Amino acid sequence: RTFEHIIIESKDQVGVIRLNRPKMLNALSFAVLREIAAAVDGFEADDGIGCILITGNEKAFAAGADIKEMQPKSFIDMLNEDFKAIGGDRIATCRKPTIAAVSGYALGGGCELAMMCDIIIASDNATFGQPEITLGTIPGIGGTQRLTRAIGKAKAMDLCLTGRMMDAAEAERSGLVSRVVPVDKLMDEAMAAAKKIASMSRPAAAMAKDAVNRAFETTLSEGMNVERDLFRATFALEDRAEGMAAFIEKRKPTNKNR
Ligand code: HXC
Repeated sequence: RTFEHIIIESKDQVGVIRLNRPKMLNALSFAVLREIAAAVDGFEADDGIGCILITGNEKAFAAGADIKEMQPKSFIDMLNEDFKAIGGDRIATCRKPTIAAVSGYALGGGCELAMMCDIIIASDNATFGQPEITLGTIPGIGGTQRLTRAIGKAKAMDLCLTGRMMDAAEAERSGLVSRVVPVDKLMDEAMAAAKKIASMSRPAAAMAKDAVNRAFETTLSEGMNVERDLFRATFALEDRAEGMAAFIEKRKPTNKNR
């Protein structure tokens, strides 16, 4: 299928989604979010893809939901919008690892979209924020929930109540982003990380991701149970037998991804 608002590309086992509404700083209309969800569906179903990378352009990852589209909407319009079917959960429920490469503005829905990914790699010019309050609304796809889990109550309240932006250094200090790199190195660094992840055992990567995500859903003792069971389950993988044999034989493993 062809997309209107995003550009997709497959390269070195990485599925790249580039938001492409530069004149509107990649504002996320419902159509954009639906296209992102469809692209994730496609990459998830493609055995040739081991990691998904989502990015914008140098000035903006995404400056939030499309305010011009939202402005005339009523409560019933929003009630009828299926938030789970749109970007609202599709990236977060993707079983393959996902990376957001963020340059420039990641505001409102843009920050929320980045937070749906497993890893955020930011350029040094990135800014994050939840400015919805300045529009008389509040975050709607994770800005009060994923942000609070990522950076804690103090910072999340500060951002959601004042609507201020935080720069890349503060975002890294706060634990929102995994790495900060110079803006001209962003795509190289993010692609290298994505390729590396894609080269790993796919089932092991899926299990590692699943286990980390459980930490946000359950108690420590239940999370430890899940981790232990998944760890044991890796001993049924051909990739696990091969990975350990390759280490002992001082060679690179060949993953069967089974
Ligand atoms: C629609 C947007 C937009 C947005 C920017 N534009 N952000 N259009 N929705 N979220 C448009 C502008 O109207 C303008 O169009 C063009 O993009 C360039 O933006 P400027 O404002 O001229 O650029 P600049 O002066 O550099 O300021 C950048 C900015 C500012 C600080 C990022 O654009 C801004 O504050 N944007 C809104 C940020 C925001 O409030 N996001 C939260 C949205 S609510 P024209 O036609 O004038 O050239 C949200 C809820 C999530 O995300 C819930 C999920 C369902």
